Amino acid sequence: MARYAHICGWGMSVPEHVMTNDDWTQLVDTTDEWIRSRTGIIERRIAAEGETTFTLSLEAARNALDVDKLSPAQLDLIIVATITPEHLFPATACLVQDGLGAMNAGAFDLSAGCSGFIYALSLATDTIRAGSCQHVMVIGGETLSRFIDWNDRDTCVLFGDGAGAVVVSASEMPGGILSSALGSDGSGGDHLIIPAGGSKLSPSHETVAEGLHYIRMNGREVFRFATRTMDKATRLACQKANVSLEDVKLFVPHQANIRIIKSAARSLKLKNDQIATNLDRYGNTSAASIPIALVEAIEAGRIHRNDYLVLVGFGAGLTWGAIVLQWGVPLPVKPAPWYLRMLRALYYRWARVRSWGARQRRRAEDWLPFNGRNGYHRNGTSPALPPVPAKPEREAEPGPQEQEEQQEPVAESEQQ
Ligand code: ACO
Repeated sequence: MARYAHICGWGMSVPEHVMTNDDWTQLVDTTDEWIRSRTGIIERRIAAEGETTFTLSLEAARNALDVDKLSPAQLDLIIVATITPEHLFPATACLVQDGLGAMNAGAFDLSAGCSGFIYALSLATDTIRAGSCQHVMVIGGETLSRFIDWNDRDTCVLFGDGAGAVVVSASEMPGGILSSALGSDGSGGDHLIIPAGGSKLSPSHETVAEGLHYIRMNGREVFRFATRTMDKATRLACQKANVSLEDVKLFVPHQANIRIIKSAARSLKLKNDQIATNLDRYGNTSAASIPIALVEAIEAGRIHRNDYLVLVGFGAGLTWGAIVLQWGVPLPVKPAPWYLRMLRALYYRWARVRSWGARQRRRAEDWLPFNGRNGYHRNGTSPALPPVPAKPEREAEPGPQEQEEQQEPVAESEQQ
């Protein structure tokens, strides 16, 4: 029986703190007029101390589960698309798994720049269609404010922080995510990059002094690339899904620059009411921008059952991708009843206690003598391994000369 992948839950989380263009004029040589006219951005959200990619992603994921009324224990997989993870490792997705108490889920991060959410959604769809997963949490979460040079006016005014999440579930009902088109061009990787902090340039006094751990961008090059690929990716995904552009109810593009969005809309011949934009309020939130715009469009009543949507993004890599989907869930969704919310709150408390318990168990294992299960003696050395059985000695193979000698001499009578 055919399996379809439907978005059944959605949620978002953005920091409280709003930073306006005027706030930036206090810090760098810029103006509200320049930022508005060149980018369309008016304000963005900036993470406060203690707010991170993990905390924003976790809240977005919890909100998505509330809409779907799904237990975290039912999730099979959690993917966090991000270029600003909590750490280089472990994956932010694993922290989200722990925070949700999703004890049956695998978890990993995905790095594809601002196209990350599209890549992750495409992958989630494939795992569902293949039958290996029933419910997948896909999150786009970023705290770009931690990776911008606050003195570089070329980049600092563009970015914001936030997270958006969707639950993708298997269903026999036709529709849901119909097609995806992904692409990349690594030859353009230098145009959008954090040069240091990886294996090529590990962090040092010099890299910090030169600001190589901040986002570097060739804006004009990325702009040109974006206008080309938004059109190409959208057309390809629509063609794969056999959906014509006139039938698309809502186009949800990556929110980087209003001029890029308008240029794509012009070449795709889309009307204003077919486009979801919110970059005036959030700026560019990279992998979080498409899910946040999608959640806001759903909550604003812009999406109805059976509507065709196109999600399209581009970003660091360079990467691009588009998804065509047919909305399957009747809207609006009733909010979860009070007892479900209470149970959920209790579950998350239990998840914290469980996580704390697991940490304590690991700590206690340091003090336990070797018991055959924890693998280590109290003094930190591993138990004496049983001796490796000695290999049975093989007789040395005779060399060619020896072989000749061993050959029995042919009798003279026989030779004759
Ligand atoms: N305030 C005032 N002036 C500025 C500012 C600023 N904040 N920033 C740049 N300028 C100046 C420049 O110095 C330049 O001055 P100059 O002509 O004297 O040299 C002038 O403005 C024009 O600069 P341009 O780069 O030509 O400006 P442009 O119109 O191209 O806009 C922008 C720049 C907004 C960055 C645009 O190129 C853009 O949006 N590019 C795409 C960015 C993008 O989509 N990034 C995706 C990131 S996704 C990810 O994966 C992280």
